[in-house]
Amino acid sequence: MDVPSAAVVLLAFALLTCLFMSNLSEHQVRLVKSSYAKKYDSIVFPRYVSHPAKVQNSTVQRWGVNLRNLQPHKQVEDLTDAPRDDQCAMALENRFDCARDRALSKTECEDRGCCYAPVPDTGGPPWCFYPRLYSGYKMGPLTPTLRGHAATLVRANPSYLPRDITTLRLEVMEETAGRLHLTLKDPSSQRYEVKLPVGKPRSNGNTQDPLYAIEFQPDPFGFIVRRQSNGRVIMNTTVAPLLFADQYLQLSTTLASSLVSGLGEHYTPLLLDTNWTSLTLWNRDMAPHGNANLYGSHPFYIVQEEDGLAHGVFLLNSNAMEVTLQPTPALTWVTVGGILDLYVFMGPDPQSVVRQYLQVIGYPMMPPYWSLGFHLCRWGYTTTNATRMVAQHMHNANFPLDVQWNDLDYADKRRVFTFDPQRFGDLPEMVEEFHQRGMKYILILDPGISSTSPPGTYPPFDDGLKRDVFIKNATGQTLIGRVWPGQTAFPDFTNLETRRWWEDCIRAFHAKVPVDGLWIDMNEPASFVQGSVEGCPDSDLENPPYTPAEVVGGQLNSGTLCMSAQQRLSTHYNLHNVYGLTEASATHSALVKVRGKRPFVLSRSSFSGIGRFSGVWTGDVRSNWEQLRYSIPAVLQFSLFGVPLVGADICGFEGDTTEELCVRWMQLGAFYPFMRNHNDRLNAPQEPYVFGQQAQEAMRSALNLRYSLLPFLYTLFCHAHTSADTVARPLFMEFPTDPNCQAIDRQFLWGNSLLISPVLEQGAVELSAYLPQGTWYSLHNGQPFYSKGQYLLLPAPLDTINIHVREGHIIPQQEPALTTTASRRNPFVLTVALSSAGWAFGDLFWDDGDSLGTIETGNYCYVIFIAGQSQVVSDPLKLNGALDGLVLGGLRVFGVPSPPRSVLANGEKVWDFTYYTDTKALTVTSLALPMSKVFTVQWTL
Ligand SMILES: *[C@@H]1O[C@H](CO)[C@@H](O)[C@H](O)[C@H]1NC(C)=O
Ligand SMILES: *[C@@H]1O[C@H](CO)[C@@H](O)[C@H](O)[C@H]1NC(C)=O
Ligand SMILES: *[C@@H]1O[C@H](CO)[C@@H](O)[C@H](O)[C@H]1NC(C)=O
Ligand SMILES: *[C@@H]1O[C@H](CO)[C@@H](O)[C@H](O)[C@H]1NC(C)=O
Repeated sequence: MDVPSAAVVLLAFALLTCLFMSNLSEHQVRLVKSSYAKKYDSIVFPRYVSHPAKVQNSTVQRWGVNLRNLQPHKQVEDLTDAPRDDQCAMALENRFDCARDRALSKTECEDRGCCYAPVPDTGGPPWCFYPRLYSGYKMGPLTPTLRGHAATLVRANPSYLPRDITTLRLEVMEETAGRLHLTLKDPSSQRYEVKLPVGKPRSNGNTQDPLYAIEFQPDPFGFIVRRQSNGRVIMNTTVAPLLFADQYLQLSTTLASSLVSGLGEHYTPLLLDTNWTSLTLWNRDMAPHGNANLYGSHPFYIVQEEDGLAHGVFLLNSNAMEVTLQPTPALTWVTVGGILDLYVFMGPDPQSVVRQYLQVIGYPMMPPYWSLGFHLCRWGYTTTNATRMVAQHMHNANFPLDVQWNDLDYADKRRVFTFDPQRFGDLPEMVEEFHQRGMKYILILDPGISSTSPPGTYPPFDDGLKRDVFIKNATGQTLIGRVWPGQTAFPDFTNLETRRWWEDCIRAFHAKVPVDGLWIDMNEPASFVQGSVEGCPDSDLENPPYTPAEVVGGQLNSGTLCMSAQQRLSTHYNLHNVYGLTEASATHSALVKVRGKRPFVLSRSSFSGIGRFSGVWTGDVRSNWEQLRYSIPAVLQFSLFGVPLVGADICGFEGDTTEELCVRWMQLGAFYPFMRNHNDRLNAPQEPYVFGQQAQEAMRSALNLRYSLLPFLYTLFCHAHTSADTVARPLFMEFPTDPNCQAIDRQFLWGNSLLISPVLEQGAVELSAYLPQGTWYSLHNGQPFYSKGQYLLLPAPLDTINIHVREGHIIPQQEPALTTTASRRNPFVLTVALSSAGWAFGDLFWDDGDSLGTIETGNYCYVIFIAGQSQVVSDPLKLNGALDGLVLGGLRVFGVPSPPRSVLANGEKVWDFTYYTDTKALTVTSLALPMSKVFTVQWTL
């Protein structure tokens, strides 16, 4: 069930109307209704937002919903000779690379039938490029199928690529009004296809009034997708030929604008550079830096169209991939295997694009409440006592800490599922102690299973061999690589038996060490030898005809396993990018079964859909200001990829941090959805308590601020889980028609109502922050800023992170404590940010924070809050007892125009209230109104 949803909020609206009816005049009720209708339209239901779409030309009506063939372009025959000059004359930005697979001489280029025209700068426009007309596939008639339409594509002559596939089957499926799905496959042989664990996305049957129209150019084959409402071209693949060979598939398209984001995981701003850049998608253990493939692969992009609309494209393919962006603007997908399985999401607004994408890859999991608290970790807590001391120092210095972690230090000879009998001999007792203090404990779990222990001494390997769970090399023996414990075998999580064995290992370990979650690292998978300790056989898999240019190490098997390694489902060549995803899925389900509670998994490697099982952190970031700054686009990109539980290692993992950097990073990190400070072995310490008093005070206040906001953050996660809303949200998603927001990635939102503007520069004590149009209140003291949509210079001394609340919103908070176990019992506080018309809305999702499936089984509370007409009213729409005994302790109302004469809570006079004339904020304290009942707080002006 999807309760905090549109239908229920509408129901709430009806209920509240009744509520108001009892003590408001009919006129006032009308005001309430119309004001609400407006609010709900524009804030609560982004999917219904209709943006003024400009109709660009009068021919729009031509584009029907039907599949139509474009008129054949021209006869294209005899293009084998060098193309004529007029075929090659085109603007530099319109050149599409004809020599992407390898460098070509003029003769070789012309032998391909391509144009050769060198340009001075390298790394820019290609020298060898396709002429306007270039022979390709010819499309046969479209015929209806059960799921849509299909056609056969045939090319008369093979392309210049080895093992070209000359006949293809095209399928076009109009799956929903907003989702178009196209596949291109080899009809004569079954090629590898990605199977996402979520299963095939169902069509919702509603394909009436699709937002798209598609047309085909039969010869050479290409297609055009338009936005139905305004005729805008979303994709035009006729700009360059489709290529489909065994190990080289290529599809180019124009982009509707240069405002493109996604295609992670890379070290980039939120908006990608379209000035001849390439992004390689190939999971790799690689510290974040520019022009490199990093830990995860998300072959999805979102384009902001110029009028605030947006669309997205997902190429469901897990092979090594390169995506090139050029200033046309255009994009070229190249992948070295699999099929072309393409989804187009029509939005029309950015949040709907993400939701449509997540309908295909799966909505994110609901995290346990405690996992939103503060996590502390370091490689180098070398004993249980050292680990205990860390938690004790945190406690003594009054820093909230929910989860203490250990890196690989705990393991006996660095072997997972063991703990060192000397240094960590009392690990089980330590974990018990943490639990007794209301804390949780997590440790690292690498996939590599040590293969060199004496037989009979290390069950994970012995049992694994017996149960045949490991990845095999090309000749069928267990593939051996090298990771932290030395030589290791690698579990094949595409094998069902491996998932059972993994669960058994976790169960046996958990019986000794009752960990609360698992941190799955090194799961690209990483290996310190290339391919295996035996090397790799020489084959087309290890050395494909084409390797994406920017693969770190130059070869696909650099830093990982042999491509020819065999997994149950296919070769590692095909499955490499989903290794982390399959491990996350196996670990998630093992934890469900072993603990019977909501699982927490944190993964380094990722692929589309991992948000269903796991959070992600951004890997081995360095302790410097640039990495601090780029952590925001990294977090926001993962929001677009359906992984809301994400954060960077606060204060940096590699290198020494400084006090100032670490303060600023703790302040920003307090607003990462996942908040962990993690350090490498040899660096300067960076636990909050090691710094000077002033720095500690700043960090403490950032932590307390986060803890006070956890009820709000948790509610956002509920909406992410049930409705695919984003948690950390780029400004463009919330304000798509404001061009100033298109590129902002130094600020971000939580949900639709908290604006976070951190300091990202050394020495800065003020910052220029953009406030979209409307009234924004300082979360700190309620000071209002009336913005026309402008940058404001805000003071930001070292103890301050600027957070603003958007008018019209109510933020549920709770008094902080040193753990969430304690804070969850504290009084709630509402921060009410009135709109200029005097209204505000908010909600709270609450359950026990740790049980499985509370939303699905209805075992939760959902309360909405409405402010208007000088009062705040709550309405518990759903109660299960989780809020029993909890009270509203007070509220802060921002934007109260004049001092109230009196304040009433549930009709009784309240004495503890203060009105601040300078900020127009009203603070009411010392309340004790039960959260599980309707309450009303009124002020009389
Ligand atoms: C698609 O691209 C081709 C090649 O650039 C161009 O001639 C054609 O006009 C484009 N079609 C549309 C509908 O924009
Ligand atoms: C694109 O890159 C080239 C070479 O790096 C540079 O000269 C040019 O100014 C860039 N163009 C834009 C629009 O940024
Ligand atoms: C931890 O400290 C306690 C008390 O000081 C001591 O008895 C114990 O041996 C220490 N344990 C380890 C593993 O060093
Ligand atoms: C597979 O592993 C076995 C045992 O380590 C080794 O003898 C064999 O050469 C390996 N095969 C390949 C293709 O590397």
